[in-house]
Amino acid sequence: MPNLLTMNNLENDKIMNLLKRAEQFEKGEKASLDGAVVNLFFEPSTRTKMSFEMAEHRLGLSVLPFETAFSSILKGETLYDTVKTMEAIGVKAVIIRHEEEEYYQQLAGCKVAVINGGDGSGQHPTQSLLDLYTIHQEFGRIDGIHVTIVGDIAHSRVAKSNAAALKQLGAKVSFVCPEEWSGDYDTTDDLDALIGETDVVMMLRVQHERHAVSALFSKERYHIEFGLTEARERKMKKDAIIMHPAPINRGVEIADSLVECQRSRIFKQMENGVFVRMAVLEYAMKGRE
Ligand code: NCD
Repeated sequence: MPNLLTMNNLENDKIMNLLKRAEQFEKGEKASLDGAVVNLFFEPSTRTKMSFEMAEHRLGLSVLPFETAFSSILKGETLYDTVKTMEAIGVKAVIIRHEEEEYYQQLAGCKVAVINGGDGSGQHPTQSLLDLYTIHQEFGRIDGIHVTIVGDIAHSRVAKSNAAALKQLGAKVSFVCPEEWSGDYDTTDDLDALIGETDVVMMLRVQHERHAVSALFSKERYHIEFGLTEARERKMKKDAIIMHPAPINRGVEIADSLVECQRSRIFKQMENGVFVRMAVLEYAMKGRE
Protein backbone atom coordinates (compact mmCIF):
# COMPACT_ATOMS: atom_id res chain seq x y z
CA MET A 1 0.00 0.00 0.00
CA PRO A 2 1.29 3.51 -0.68
CA ASN A 3 3.08 5.28 2.16
CA LEU A 4 3.26 9.02 2.78
CA LEU A 5 6.64 9.69 4.37
CA THR A 6 8.00 12.93 2.93
CA MET A 7 7.05 15.69 0.52
CA ASN A 8 10.39 15.37 -1.24
CA ASN A 9 9.32 12.78 -3.78
CA LEU A 10 5.65 13.63 -4.17
CA GLU A 11 4.95 14.77 -7.73
CA ASN A 12 2.83 17.85 -8.41
CA ASP A 13 -0.06 15.90 -9.90
CA LYS A 14 -0.19 13.61 -6.86
CA ILE A 15 -0.24 16.65 -4.57
CA MET A 16 -2.98 18.34 -6.60
CA ASN A 17 -5.07 15.14 -6.67
CA LEU A 18 -4.91 14.90 -2.90
CA LEU A 19 -5.93 18.57 -2.58
CA LYS A 20 -8.82 18.03 -5.00
CA ARG A 21 -10.01 15.04 -3.01
CA ALA A 22 -9.74 17.06 0.23
CA GLU A 23 -11.92 19.72 -1.38
CA GLN A 24 -14.56 17.11 -2.23
CA PHE A 25 -14.55 16.02 1.41
CA GLU A 26 -14.86 19.62 2.52
CA LYS A 27 -17.87 20.01 0.24
CA GLY A 28 -19.55 17.10 1.99
CA GLU A 29 -18.65 14.07 -0.11
CA LYS A 30 -18.63 10.88 1.92
CA ALA A 31 -16.41 7.83 1.66
CA SER A 32 -16.40 4.64 3.60
CA LEU A 33 -13.25 2.60 4.16
CA ASP A 34 -12.88 -0.85 5.70
CA GLY A 35 -10.23 -1.76 8.19
CA ALA A 36 -8.37 -0.78 11.32
CA VAL A 37 -5.74 1.90 11.81
CA VAL A 38 -3.51 2.89 14.73
CA ASN A 39 -2.08 6.29 15.59
CA LEU A 40 1.38 5.73 17.09
CA PHE A 41 2.42 9.04 18.58
CA PHE A 42 5.75 9.02 20.41
CA GLU A 43 5.94 12.81 20.61
CA PRO A 44 3.25 15.10 21.99
CA SER A 45 0.49 16.13 19.61
CA THR A 46 -2.91 17.77 19.84
CA ARG A 47 -3.87 18.80 16.29
CA THR A 48 -2.25 16.14 14.15
CA LYS A 49 -3.38 13.24 16.33
CA MET A 50 -6.90 14.53 16.90
CA SER A 51 -7.47 15.50 13.29
CA PHE A 52 -6.26 12.10 12.09
CA GLU A 53 -8.70 10.56 14.55
CA MET A 54 -11.51 12.75 13.28
CA ALA A 55 -10.64 11.88 9.68
CA GLU A 56 -10.52 8.17 10.53
CA HIS A 57 -13.93 8.29 12.22
CA ARG A 58 -15.45 10.19 9.30
CA LEU A 59 -14.19 7.49 6.95
CA GLY A 60 -15.74 4.77 9.10
CA LEU A 61 -12.40 3.20 10.03
CA SER A 62 -11.80 1.28 13.26
CA VAL A 63 -9.32 3.27 15.31
CA LEU A 64 -7.44 1.07 17.76
CA PRO A 65 -6.26 3.04 20.78
CA PHE A 66 -2.53 3.05 21.46
CA GLU A 67 -0.81 4.82 24.33
CA THR A 68 3.00 4.75 24.29
CA ALA A 69 2.99 5.15 28.07
CA PHE A 70 1.17 1.80 28.48
CA SER A 71 2.80 -0.12 25.64
CA SER A 72 5.67 -2.60 25.41
CA ILE A 73 7.83 0.25 24.13
CA LEU A 74 8.47 0.76 27.84
CA LYS A 75 9.84 -2.80 28.00
CA GLY A 76 12.30 -1.91 25.25
CA GLU A 77 10.36 -3.13 22.23
CA THR A 78 11.58 -1.55 18.99
CA LEU A 79 9.47 0.57 16.66
CA TYR A 80 9.87 -2.11 13.98
CA ASP A 81 8.52 -4.86 16.25
CA THR A 82 5.67 -2.60 17.35
CA VAL A 83 4.65 -1.92 13.75
CA LYS A 84 5.04 -5.61 12.77
CA THR A 85 2.73 -6.43 15.69
CA MET A 86 0.10 -4.04 14.35
CA GLU A 87 0.47 -5.65 10.94
CA ALA A 88 0.10 -9.15 12.43
CA ILE A 89 -3.16 -8.30 14.20
CA GLY A 90 -4.64 -6.95 10.98
CA VAL A 91 -4.06 -3.20 11.07
CA LYS A 92 -4.00 -1.65 7.58
CA ALA A 93 -2.33 1.69 8.25
CA VAL A 94 -0.24 3.26 10.99
CA ILE A 95 0.20 6.97 11.49
CA ILE A 96 3.49 7.61 13.26
CA ARG A 97 5.01 10.62 14.96
CA HIS A 98 8.51 10.01 16.28
CA GLU A 99 11.39 12.14 17.52
CA GLU A 100 13.91 10.25 15.34
CA GLU A 101 14.49 11.77 11.90
CA GLU A 102 13.67 9.26 9.14
CA TYR A 103 12.50 6.64 11.67
CA TYR A 104 10.56 5.19 8.74
CA GLN A 105 13.72 3.80 7.07
CA GLN A 106 13.67 0.92 9.57
CA LEU A 107 10.08 0.07 8.52
CA ALA A 108 10.89 -0.51 4.86
CA GLY A 109 10.08 -4.24 5.19
CA CYS A 110 6.60 -3.68 6.64
CA LYS A 111 3.49 -4.24 4.52
CA VAL A 112 1.22 -1.97 6.52
CA ALA A 113 0.80 1.57 5.09
CA VAL A 114 2.87 4.12 6.98
CA ILE A 115 1.78 7.76 7.16
CA ASN A 116 4.34 10.10 8.67
CA GLY A 117 2.84 12.38 11.31
CA GLY A 118 6.21 14.10 11.84
CA ASP A 119 9.77 12.74 12.21
CA GLY A 120 11.98 14.87 14.47
CA SER A 121 13.27 17.86 12.52
CA GLY A 122 12.68 15.96 9.27
CA GLN A 123 9.30 16.07 7.53
CA HIS A 124 5.61 16.57 8.27
CA PRO A 125 3.87 15.82 4.97
CA THR A 126 0.23 16.07 6.10
CA GLN A 127 0.91 19.49 7.64
CA SER A 128 2.44 20.58 4.36
CA LEU A 129 -0.55 19.29 2.39
CA LEU A 130 -3.01 21.12 4.62
CA ASP A 131 -0.93 24.28 4.30
CA LEU A 132 -0.91 23.93 0.50
CA TYR A 133 -4.65 23.31 0.57
CA THR A 134 -5.21 26.44 2.65
CA ILE A 135 -3.07 28.58 0.31
CA HIS A 136 -4.79 27.17 -2.78
CA GLN A 137 -8.21 27.74 -1.24
CA GLU A 138 -7.31 31.35 -0.54
CA PHE A 139 -5.68 32.37 -3.81
CA GLY A 140 -7.00 29.78 -6.28
CA ARG A 141 -3.40 28.85 -7.14
CA ILE A 142 0.00 28.22 -5.61
CA ASP A 143 2.09 29.15 -8.64
CA GLY A 144 3.44 32.70 -8.26
CA ILE A 145 2.33 33.13 -4.63
CA HIS A 146 5.02 34.63 -2.40
CA VAL A 147 5.29 32.72 0.88
CA THR A 148 7.60 33.97 3.62
CA ILE A 149 8.44 31.33 6.23
CA VAL A 150 9.58 32.91 9.48
CA GLY A 151 11.28 31.35 12.47
CA ASP A 152 13.04 28.19 13.47
CA ILE A 153 13.77 26.99 9.93
CA ALA A 154 16.62 24.59 10.74
CA HIS A 155 14.65 22.58 13.29
CA SER A 156 11.19 22.78 11.73
CA ARG A 157 9.79 19.82 9.83
CA VAL A 158 6.95 22.10 8.75
CA ALA A 159 9.40 24.50 7.07
CA LYS A 160 11.27 21.69 5.36
CA SER A 161 8.18 19.94 4.02
CA ASN A 162 6.67 23.19 2.81
CA ALA A 163 9.84 24.62 1.30
CA ALA A 164 10.22 21.71 -1.08
CA ALA A 165 6.57 21.40 -2.05
CA LEU A 166 5.90 25.12 -2.46
CA LYS A 167 8.90 25.64 -4.74
CA GLN A 168 8.00 22.59 -6.79
CA LEU A 169 4.51 24.03 -7.28
CA GLY A 170 5.89 27.37 -8.46
CA ALA A 171 5.58 29.52 -5.33
CA LYS A 172 8.24 32.04 -4.44
CA VAL A 173 9.56 31.11 -1.00
CA SER A 174 11.54 33.41 1.31
CA PHE A 175 13.00 32.43 4.66
CA VAL A 176 13.47 34.73 7.63
CA CYS A 177 15.26 33.64 10.78
CA PRO A 178 18.21 34.28 13.06
CA GLU A 179 21.38 33.22 11.21
CA GLU A 180 21.91 30.37 13.71
CA TRP A 181 18.67 28.72 12.52
CA SER A 182 19.26 28.94 8.77
CA GLY A 183 20.08 25.27 8.27
CA ASP A 184 20.71 24.67 4.56
CA TYR A 185 18.49 27.56 3.46
CA ASP A 186 19.27 30.93 2.03
CA THR A 187 17.77 33.17 4.71
CA THR A 188 17.59 36.80 5.79
CA ASP A 189 17.06 38.24 9.26
CA ASP A 190 15.12 41.23 7.92
CA LEU A 191 11.41 40.48 8.21
CA ASP A 192 10.52 44.14 7.70
CA ALA A 193 12.03 44.11 4.22
CA LEU A 194 9.67 41.31 3.11
CA ILE A 195 6.50 41.88 5.08
CA GLY A 196 4.97 44.30 2.56
CA GLU A 197 5.53 42.11 -0.48
CA THR A 198 4.50 38.69 0.69
CA ASP A 199 1.12 36.96 0.17
CA VAL A 200 1.48 34.41 2.95
CA VAL A 201 3.32 35.01 6.21
CA MET A 202 3.93 31.57 7.64
CA MET A 203 5.12 31.76 11.23
CA LEU A 204 6.82 28.78 12.87
CA ARG A 205 6.94 27.75 16.49
CA VAL A 206 10.33 28.01 18.16
CA GLN A 207 11.28 24.35 18.67
CA HIS A 208 12.39 24.62 22.31
CA GLU A 209 12.41 20.83 22.70
CA ARG A 210 14.99 20.39 19.91
CA HIS A 211 17.59 22.92 21.06
CA ALA A 212 18.36 25.44 23.80
CA VAL A 213 16.92 28.70 22.57
CA SER A 214 17.13 30.74 25.74
CA ALA A 215 20.85 31.35 25.30
CA LEU A 216 20.15 32.98 21.94
CA PHE A 217 17.06 35.06 22.63
CA SER A 218 14.71 36.20 25.33
CA LYS A 219 11.06 35.78 24.29
CA GLU A 220 10.68 39.56 24.19
CA ARG A 221 13.68 40.04 21.94
CA TYR A 222 12.60 37.28 19.62
CA HIS A 223 9.16 38.86 19.30
CA ILE A 224 10.63 42.26 18.46
CA GLU A 225 13.10 40.92 15.88
CA PHE A 226 11.24 37.99 14.31
CA GLY A 227 7.69 38.06 15.63
CA LEU A 228 4.56 39.13 13.78
CA THR A 229 3.80 42.29 15.70
CA GLU A 230 0.75 44.49 15.18
CA ALA A 231 2.97 47.07 13.47
CA ARG A 232 4.20 44.47 10.97
CA GLU A 233 0.68 43.19 10.35
CA ARG A 234 -0.34 46.73 9.34
CA LYS A 235 2.35 46.68 6.64
CA MET A 236 1.08 43.46 5.06
CA LYS A 237 -0.49 43.48 1.58
CA LYS A 238 -4.24 44.00 1.50
CA ASP A 239 -5.13 40.35 0.85
CA ALA A 240 -2.16 38.71 2.52
CA ILE A 241 -2.82 35.99 5.08
CA ILE A 242 -1.18 34.72 8.26
CA MET A 243 -0.51 31.03 8.85
CA HIS A 244 1.00 29.07 11.74
CA PRO A 245 0.95 25.27 12.20
CA ALA A 246 0.41 25.69 15.97
CA PRO A 247 0.91 25.14 18.85
CA ILE A 248 1.44 28.88 19.14
CA ASN A 249 3.64 30.67 21.62
CA ARG A 250 1.40 33.72 21.90
CA GLY A 251 3.41 36.90 22.21
CA VAL A 252 6.57 35.20 20.90
CA GLU A 253 6.09 34.24 17.20
CA ILE A 254 2.90 36.22 16.90
CA ALA A 255 1.12 38.93 18.88
CA ASP A 256 -1.76 37.54 20.91
CA SER A 257 -4.19 39.94 19.23
CA LEU A 258 -3.33 38.62 15.74
CA VAL A 259 -3.98 34.92 16.35
CA GLU A 260 -7.65 35.28 15.42
CA CYS A 261 -7.50 38.47 13.36
CA GLN A 262 -9.24 38.77 10.00
CA ARG A 263 -6.06 37.77 8.10
CA SER A 264 -5.35 34.76 10.24
CA ARG A 265 -6.03 31.32 8.75
CA ILE A 266 -4.61 29.47 11.76
CA PHE A 267 -7.87 27.79 12.80
CA LYS A 268 -8.87 27.32 9.17
CA GLN A 269 -5.65 25.35 8.71
CA MET A 270 -6.78 23.03 11.51
CA GLU A 271 -10.22 22.63 9.96
CA ASN A 272 -8.64 21.85 6.59
CA GLY A 273 -6.35 19.30 8.23
CA VAL A 274 -9.25 16.89 8.68
CA PHE A 275 -10.22 16.93 4.97
CA VAL A 276 -6.62 16.58 3.84
CA ARG A 277 -6.04 13.66 6.20
CA MET A 278 -9.20 11.96 4.93
CA ALA A 279 -7.73 12.23 1.42
CA VAL A 280 -4.35 10.89 2.61
CA LEU A 281 -5.90 7.95 4.46
CA GLU A 282 -7.94 7.04 1.40
CA TYR A 283 -4.82 7.27 -0.77
CA ALA A 284 -2.82 5.07 1.60
CA MET A 285 -5.52 2.49 2.18
CA LYS A 286 -7.09 2.20 -1.26
CA GLY A 287 -4.22 3.29 -3.42
CA ARG A 288 -6.55 6.00 -4.74
CA GLU A 289 -4.87 9.19 -5.93
C1 NCD B 1 3.85 21.10 14.23
C2 NCD B 1 4.68 19.88 14.50
O1 NCD B 1 4.40 19.10 15.41
O2 NCD B 1 5.61 19.71 13.77
N1 NCD B 1 2.59 21.08 14.79
C3 NCD B 1 1.60 20.44 14.14
O3 NCD B 1 1.72 19.31 13.76
N2 NCD B 1 0.49 21.16 13.91
C4 NCD B 1 4.55 22.33 14.51
C5 NCD B 1 5.27 22.48 15.81
O4 NCD B 1 5.21 21.65 16.70
O5 NCD B 1 5.92 23.50 15.92
